[in-house]
Amino acid sequence: MPTYITTPIYYVNDRPHIGHCYTTLLADVTARFYRLLAEGPVFFLTGTDEHADKVVTSAAAHDMTPLQWADRNAAEFKKAFAFMNCTSDDFIRTTEDRHKSKVLEYIRALQKKGDIYLGDYVGWFDESQEEYLTETAAKEANFVSPVTGKPLVKKVEKNYFFRLSAYQAPLQKHFDSHPAFVMPEARRNEVLGRFREGLQDIPISRAVTSDPTSQWGIRMPDDPSHRIYVWIDALFNYLSVVDTPERRSFWPPAVHYIAKDILWFHAVIWPALLLALGRELPATVYSHAYWVRDGRKMSKSLGNFVTIEVLQAYAQKYSLDALRWYLVTQGPQGATDADFSHAKFVEVYNADLANGIGNCASRVSNMIEKYFAGSLPEYQSAWIDRRWETTSADAIPTYLRAARALDFGAAFEAASSLIKDVDDLISETKPFTLAKDMSANGAEVANILACCAESIRVASILLAPAMPQKMAQLWQAWGCTPPAGVGLEALCTFNGPHGLKPGARITKGDALFMRADPAEAPPA
Ligand code: MSP
Repeated sequence: MPTYITTPIYYVNDRPHIGHCYTTLLADVTARFYRLLAEGPVFFLTGTDEHADKVVTSAAAHDMTPLQWADRNAAEFKKAFAFMNCTSDDFIRTTEDRHKSKVLEYIRALQKKGDIYLGDYVGWFDESQEEYLTETAAKEANFVSPVTGKPLVKKVEKNYFFRLSAYQAPLQKHFDSHPAFVMPEARRNEVLGRFREGLQDIPISRAVTSDPTSQWGIRMPDDPSHRIYVWIDALFNYLSVVDTPERRSFWPPAVHYIAKDILWFHAVIWPALLLALGRELPATVYSHAYWVRDGRKMSKSLGNFVTIEVLQAYAQKYSLDALRWYLVTQGPQGATDADFSHAKFVEVYNADLANGIGNCASRVSNMIEKYFAGSLPEYQSAWIDRRWETTSADAIPTYLRAARALDFGAAFEAASSLIKDVDDLISETKPFTLAKDMSANGAEVANILACCAESIRVASILLAPAMPQKMAQLWQAWGCTPPAGVGLEALCTFNGPHGLKPGARITKGDALFMRADPAEAPPA
């Protein structure tokens, strides 16, 4: 089955930071997981949202045209995601013709159906978020932006409206019959709560005036005095990119990854637009929480963003895969915010990586080198197989269940449990003591080390979506790079057709992760 995974398209006005990198990384891990499953083609999309008013003002401040400014910043996002080793299949920019022409097509279809009409709009506009607030929401927020605290502006406009109210009942039905439509649960409940207040039609255009800001954006079909509201333009990216003969089979998306800030647009407005267009709805909108720093929200005014430069410094010092591991396993995947803390980074790095898979793989390869001249020994597998069945075999179904439910924290914990099982096996059986008398214990030492090596191989496959480079390094040292297209379950069969074979060369290679000193200052 084709699998389609998306990230938000990011405002081209900001510089990429940990938040953008995190969501795109989650999507990358998901894409890599699905590619590993080899159940069908995978399409992973990210990109930039370029028609926001802010682009015009910032461009002017930098003496550039809006498009030049967007070109420059879109390139920054591309660079950031390449640095994170994210394997997106396409990068959409909403200023591209392939997107703009599709948006016009969708708007026309909705007009034809009577789901878009011209009316008057009076409302409270949050200029910093490019978003209108309902009267109730504006009152609740004391007429300032709930995000930036800037005063809301009262506006009356002739606008094109989308008949959102008509989709209350069908959407409710969809929510009722698809419990995984919005995840996690807390976010689903949040949406349903607001949803019950009732849906009102929403403006989807803005008037074009002599102000250059208002001239940026896609014009309404057959009415150049209006441009399409940036949010509506942006949401359509998910469809426009795959709405081609070659990519059509990817629709509908398996998951739209977003954070909690843009939940309503994705959980209500976007699905309503899709229902109106007669398109299938995405399986899941996954709305994670926020990275914060030292307990405080990251913001421009506090100047406390974990910037791309900070992330690069961590990757440089501890390796990119260690950074990916920390972000994925300690990130705000559920409903609770996560703190980016150096102490926590080092703790997790040492526990999971340096003292975890790194140390385990190096211990096992050292012993194989020492006792069997680096050649994987032959063994009689009876008790080893039993041990695998009783202690380790569950890790794979647990991993699969968790990863399919997009719970990568739990999935990688299951993968790491295999490493812990190997450490336990070594502590219990002490092959290094047995090896003192190889003529008496050689067969037993062979059994133990072959089991350990094979368990590590299985673990490395499960860990690869988070740490592709480090696992490839291990595969290289052990000559067990998995062939493409085989499928995770077959690859992970213990001593299966893709398992390590007796006689395989197990070389030590470079240490995967060196231990870190917790007292050392954060990399700068
Ligand atoms: N352009 C809109 C999205 C349109 S999608 C059709 C937008 N862009 S944004 O640049 O502001 O990006 C918001 C997204 O960035 C969040 O939903 C989240 O994915 C990511 N993050 C931004 N800050 C974040 C944190 N502090 N923590 C985690 N992710 C955050 O909204």
